[in-house]
Amino acid sequence: MLEKVRKAVFPAAGLGTRFLPATKAQPKEMLALVDKPLIQYGVEEAIHSGVHNIIIVTGRGKSAIEDHFDVSFELEHLLETRKKKDLLETVRAVSDMIDVAYVRQKEALGLGHAVLRARELVGNEPFSVILSDDVIDAETPCLRQLLDVYEFYHAPVLALMEVPRESISHYGVVDAEPVGHNGERGRLYRIRNLVEKPKVDDAPSNLAIIGRYILTPEIFQSLEAISPGSGGEIQLTDGLKHMLRSRPIYGYKFEGKRYDAGDKLGFLQATVEFALKRHDLGEAFRDYLKHLPL
Ligand code: G1P
Repeated sequence: MLEKVRKAVFPAAGLGTRFLPATKAQPKEMLALVDKPLIQYGVEEAIHSGVHNIIIVTGRGKSAIEDHFDVSFELEHLLETRKKKDLLETVRAVSDMIDVAYVRQKEALGLGHAVLRARELVGNEPFSVILSDDVIDAETPCLRQLLDVYEFYHAPVLALMEVPRESISHYGVVDAEPVGHNGERGRLYRIRNLVEKPKVDDAPSNLAIIGRYILTPEIFQSLEAISPGSGGEIQLTDGLKHMLRSRPIYGYKFEGKRYDAGDKLGFLQATVEFALKRHDLGEAFRDYLKHLPL
């Protein structure tokens, strides 16, 4: 019987070196796009996809994430006495939003290692993984798109995106063959091989893995079986490659726009585009940008 995906794992123990000094004392997952921390975009995507059980893999110096999803009595009290009803609702919505569990990754030994840390909280059921650096603006949430494929094939599914050849080395890359799904062709692939951060000349395609995964619990055995790979870290991509020996894995070229918010330029692009879309800010911000001497 097909089990429903109820849980989303958020690896959030990385050191955020690409964003220093902003991330010296603050987790990168708490950097705000307009007025919402990166991780909240990911959590909202999970919830809008029907996944309500959130597991955050944290590390040292990440308590701001726990505080963010917790109730803040002082702040709520202050907003109540000042009659700031809208703000109070915004603040309450964050803590009401999720059922969240935390597990620590004591050392940053890689994405695969982070996912392995969630093993006990996930248990023996399918689950999803969301990397909050990858912010995806889509009509149907990206995770929901992957879940639709999962519910059809009952097999792991990875989010895929075509990227320019010169930046392929920043990603996990797949070798994959297109397959039909519900009559729709062109977005669904069956994975033949995966490689983490290959050199440009060694990349099997221009199809990169983006930070959304639907996984089955067999991934944990695979992650335990593999040795450190790219960067000396336990890589999720390598775990998937190991799992591919015994079961099929699918990839889905999702619809939507992805921003690499872990990168300064990507973060700025997301900030500008999200601000332009906001009802309360868009018009004034557009006007401001138009008058800049570019
Ligand atoms: C991770 C994964 C990589 C994937 C990327 C997507 O890399 O290891 O396979 O393509 O996320 O953002 P990172 O960006 O954490 O180095």
